[in-house]
Amino acid sequence: MNHKQKNVYVCQNCGYESVKWLGKCPECGSWSSFEQEVRKMEIKKSAAIRTSTPLIRLSESSAETLPRLSTGMDELDRTLGGGLVPGSVIMIGGDPGIGKSTLMLQLLNALPAPTISLYISGEESDSQVNLRARRLGIRNKQILFSAETNLQNLLQEFDQVNPHMIVIDSIQTIYHDQIDSIPGNITQLRTCTSELLRYAKNHNVPIILIGHVTKEGNIAGPKVLEHMVDTVLYFEGDNHYDYRILRSVKNRFGPVNEVGLFKMTEEGLQVVKNPSEIFLSENTPPQSGNAVVAVMEGNRSFLVQVQALVTKTQFGLPQRTATGIDHRRMNLLLAVLEKRCAKPFGFYDVFVKVAGGLRMDEPAADLGICMSLISSFDDRILPAGTVYVGEVGLGGEIRTVRRLADRIMEAQKLGFQMIVVPRLNKSLGKLEKAKLKEVEHLSELI
Ligand code: TYD
Ligand code: MG
Repeated sequence: MNHKQKNVYVCQNCGYESVKWLGKCPECGSWSSFEQEVRKMEIKKSAAIRTSTPLIRLSESSAETLPRLSTGMDELDRTLGGGLVPGSVIMIGGDPGIGKSTLMLQLLNALPAPTISLYISGEESDSQVNLRARRLGIRNKQILFSAETNLQNLLQEFDQVNPHMIVIDSIQTIYHDQIDSIPGNITQLRTCTSELLRYAKNHNVPIILIGHVTKEGNIAGPKVLEHMVDTVLYFEGDNHYDYRILRSVKNRFGPVNEVGLFKMTEEGLQVVKNPSEIFLSENTPPQSGNAVVAVMEGNRSFLVQVQALVTKTQFGLPQRTATGIDHRRMNLLLAVLEKRCAKPFGFYDVFVKVAGGLRMDEPAADLGICMSLISSFDDRILPAGTVYVGEVGLGGEIRTVRRLADRIMEAQKLGFQMIVVPRLNKSLGKLEKAKLKEVEHLSELI
């Protein structure tokens, strides 16, 4: 076999290749993202080595679907759309310290008995992992550990032990020794991921890859890897709070935007059975500026408390601070209130905060945010036991929201007696104890 060398410059953000160095990537527009790589090109004596996959009739292809492997953790199964699909590759991204390694150890521990699993960690040594495992009370004897980071050696190890499940913590530490760039480099990532994909598909073994995230919060080597794998999950949360959300953003075998909720405790991650408990602020006395909204995360509905504080501007331009909601969305709602409800917010400082550190992006929370703003502005407490649901349009009209019935059900379950909903919404579900107030325009509530 002949070897030929070639210099290429590769964008570390999107994988775009160029023969010369570029300051700005023409593909994704990022600056200073090009790194030099030396490629050893193997010139193959083509046909002799080529293997082919025969053509088959799709209708006659073996439709036997292997059963999904339950992870033993309901929240994880739910996020995956009903368990691990054999042969699938799952990528989990998240900020450092959010709990990815902890989740993986707990997952391997929870796997049902005859499952031999392999935990590959290029980040921590066996003693570090052992220490953590002991702290987490992990007793599963079927977990094998390796700190190997060379891909070819790993593939050999896989062949020796024939694991039923593999976790790689993290893909950025694995390298292929035929590639002349450091681990974590986009070419390394791409090559290693495609080799692992091939192994997973050929052996019907699910592989979970942990992925580091960039400053912007994307998995490093982002789009390239997200295209390759079957499922992409993000593990999110605020470092100042204990709760964590596992969210599916891509899933070839199930619905996306499914979420699992966990709480980080001394004994590791615990499943959160009743999310509303966290996000309804602990026994705050009735105060102006507090409103409760019903939001959806994936297919789950829960109640969240929003707090607003509106005070007269003492000096200069009014201040605007939003925690947990989009800053621009708050400004928009303030403008609507000013124009449509004659509330001169332009002379006031406004602070809005969502309890529990949750990020609330759903438009269905608009009405609740507006009500908390009005409540603080007027210094008037909103009626107790009330939940607000509705999107607010630029004219102050209340727009319909999706899955209202689920939100109403959750509010009733938690003992709320009054639910303010958009008049035009259909399918309200069954009403038990609660009453509905249907509104068409913000002004009806003032
Ligand atoms: P880790 O799983 O190492 O995060 P990642 O792999 O995503 O970088 O989690 C580390 C954090 O979790 C660390 O700040 C300590 C905390 N933690 C607990 O609070 N309780 C526990 O039982 C464990 C194992 C970790
Ligand atoms: Mg880790």
